[in-house]
Amino acid sequence: MKKKILAVTLAMAMVSSLVACSGSTTKTQESASASNEESQDSTESKGTLVMATNAEFPPYEYHDGSDDQIVGIDAEIAAAIADKLGYTLEIEDIAFDSVIPEVTSGKADFGMAGMTVTEERKKSVNFSDSYATAVQVVIVPEDSDITSIDDLSGKIIGVQSGTTGDLYATDDFGDENVERYNKGMEAVQALSQGKIDAVIIDNEPAKVFVQETEGLKILDSAYAEEQYAIAIALDNTELLSEVNAALAELKADGTIDSIVSKYITAD
Ligand code: ARG
Repeated sequence: MKKKILAVTLAMAMVSSLVACSGSTTKTQESASASNEESQDSTESKGTLVMATNAEFPPYEYHDGSDDQIVGIDAEIAAAIADKLGYTLEIEDIAFDSVIPEVTSGKADFGMAGMTVTEERKKSVNFSDSYATAVQVVIVPEDSDITSIDDLSGKIIGVQSGTTGDLYATDDFGDENVERYNKGMEAVQALSQGKIDAVIIDNEPAKVFVQETEGLKILDSAYAEEQYAIAIALDNTELLSEVNAALAELKADGTIDSIVSKYITAD
């Protein structure tokens, strides 16, 4: 069961990287600012880029305890992209389920939320080139009798609603065995209170949540491998190529790596 999923997601990841390479030349809209304002002053040349996210996903996006700032890998990469392109960044914190609708309706310019590239999502948004790899993992109580993915059968699995963890758990173990929460941390709390048997969630948030909670562990066997990318409206191909160009530069000059290593220590 798990092998099939892994193979499918890897195939998807390969397809998406192929798609990312085949730069189709769709005609893009004229930049509105081009005619009236020549960008002399780089700080205010192009206006604001609104990023939709769900800031309940450390270390990618979360509220910094001290002030109410949204920080994390995605927040910093987005800021670096906006900076490079001459936009001011505005971050909007909404439910994870709402991130793609916010982008398709044009209320946000892009969605960045540790969001996995999936074929289903690609029907409603374009994805940028990938900037991170992730794995879905399983969190269980330290003394759990669940030792492998197959042991999840018939157990109650907690997930953050609308995530790939939700989709996999529902597909593989049935809707009746899936408990959905608004935040990943809420699922983890329910697990530590014995209300559910396991949580399926992305590996990096899993590490943070397990560290913050007594008596939980992450299973050694990973569930599925994924690629994170930035979601942009299908018709906004101009922003898509700007973002990809900025991402390529930020990868090449080491900015992405240094942002990641600020938040994730190789252990
Ligand atoms: N990678 C998973 C997905 O795309 C989970 C993302 C959850 N992100 C968040 N900011 N809460 O479905």
